[in-house]
Amino acid sequence: MIIAVDGPVAAGKGTLARRIAAKYGLEYLDTGALYRAVGLYMLRNDQSPSDDALAVKAARHVSEISLDDPDLRREKTGNAASVVAANQGVRSALLDYQRNVAKRKPGAVLDGRDIGTVVYPDADVKLFITASATTRAQRRFEELKAKGEDISFEAVLKDLQDRDARDQGRSSAPLTQAADAHLLDTTKLDIEAALEAACRIIDGK
Ligand code: DC
Repeated sequence: MIIAVDGPVAAGKGTLARRIAAKYGLEYLDTGALYRAVGLYMLRNDQSPSDDALAVKAARHVSEISLDDPDLRREKTGNAASVVAANQGVRSALLDYQRNVAKRKPGAVLDGRDIGTVVYPDADVKLFITASATTRAQRRFEELKAKGEDISFEAVLKDLQDRDARDQGRSSAPLTQAADAHLLDTTKLDIEAALEAACRIIDGK
C-alpha cells in the first residue's frame, strides 16, 4: 500500500504521516528532508541555492547528509530547500530515490508536496493536509523556539508565506491538491483527531 501525504509547510503532515506509517506497519519517507539535504549541502559549501547548475550537482551528494542531521530542521535550511525545489534538475535527481522507497514491501507513506501528483500518481490513498497560515506559522514558531532558534513570529509567518508562494508558483511540480486527494484541514484538530480522520479515510478505501 502506498499513501501520499501532501500539503503546505507546517500543516502537520510530517507527524501525521509518521503516525499513519506506524499504525499500518508501512515505511515512512519525509521527502522534504531530501530537498533540505540538498539545501544544507549547498549552505555548508558556501554555495547559493539559487545557482541552478550547482544545485543539480549538490543533489548528487544528497547521501552525504544524514537525514537525521539536526541542521536539516533549521529555518535557513528550509528556505534553501524551497529554492532548490524549484529546480527541475534537482527534482529529477531525487525522483528515483523516492519511487524506490515506495516500491519496497509492504509499502510506504511518503510526505511532501508532489507525491500524489508526480512521484506516485497511482498511490492507493492520497491525503492533502492543510491548515490556516496563522495556525501553521504558530506551530512552526513554537517548534523553532523549542529548538532555541532566535526568530520572531512575524518572521516565521513571512517565511511561510514566501515558501507557500514559491512552492505553489513554481513551474516544476507545483504544490497542488491532486484531483483524487482527500482534503484534511487540521486548523482545529490536534494530532490524535487528525490521525483519526486520516484513518477513517484510509479504512474507507
Ligand atoms: O516539507 P518540508 O518543509 O521539509 O520541505 C522543504 C521544502 O522542500 C519545501 O519548501 C518544498 C520542497 N519539497 C518539494 O518541493 N517537494 C517535496 N516532495 C517535498 C518538499
